[in-house]
Amino acid sequence: MNLEFYRPYFTKDYLMGPNSLRVLKELLDKNPKSLGADSLILDLGCGTGLTSFALCRETGAKVLANDLWISGEENAARFATWGVGDCVTPVHENADNLNFEKESFDAIVSIDSYHYFAGKEGYFQEKILPFLKSGGVALLGVPGIKEEYDEQTIELLFPWLGKEAYMFRSVRQWKKILGEDPDMVSVEVFELDCFEAAWQDWLVMDNQFAKGDAACWEQIIRLYTNFVGMIVRKK
Ligand SMILES: C[S@@+](CC[C@H](N)C(=O)[O-])C[C@H]1O[C@@H](n2cnc3c(N)ncnc32)[C@H](O)[C@@H]1O
Repeated sequence: MNLEFYRPYFTKDYLMGPNSLRVLKELLDKNPKSLGADSLILDLGCGTGLTSFALCRETGAKVLANDLWISGEENAARFATWGVGDCVTPVHENADNLNFEKESFDAIVSIDSYHYFAGKEGYFQEKILPFLKSGGVALLGVPGIKEEYDEQTIELLFPWLGKEAYMFRSVRQWKKILGEDPDMVSVEVFELDCFEAAWQDWLVMDNQFAKGDAACWEQIIRLYTNFVGMIVRKK
């Protein structure tokens, strides 16, 4: 995946936080399953659909671009403008209650959104795993914390995140939350290398949220947080 191709899309209209395409690239580079024209991918919590666009361009797969806060109509218009209207289909569903056929997807991808809804043990087994085909893979990237700072974690992140601070977990905590299942044949959880670059792309945006993050970058975000990658393969 050549990130330079996507540079014109690194704008305040499409980015919703740290550069989702850098996170996607790192996960795709580590992805154990090859995805191609006959694959079907679910992009869960796709936001403005930038990652869905890239998944379609990079793999040739059909992509279902699912989001909760952004309507299917809005994303459909963007996909048509970007020339991927035939390959990417917007859907508007809550991850907690997905209405797809079981065993539909070769890959389920979720960048910077899984922590909003899936930070509970058993969630992956109940809500995500059934929708993967045998041999399918989940590629998940979430903002997290470098270390567990005991009760202090929420206190440290609170000035930046307020009541969302609890969503930030360490590699060890995410491993525990993902848990085990006879159908989960491989579970890898690790810190992503793209943390700094993904944030720098976002912090320069002329956007009130980016400006708020920039004010917390040196003292909180850079000191205590990271990006956590998770790759789960189904039997
Ligand atoms: C910070 S945005 C990230 C969007 C995009 N993936 C990106 O990285 O730019 C988080 C996204 O998670 C989605 N989300 C939150 N809760 C969700 C849920 N229960 N079901 C589906 N999507 C959800 C929101 O709609 C939002 O677009």
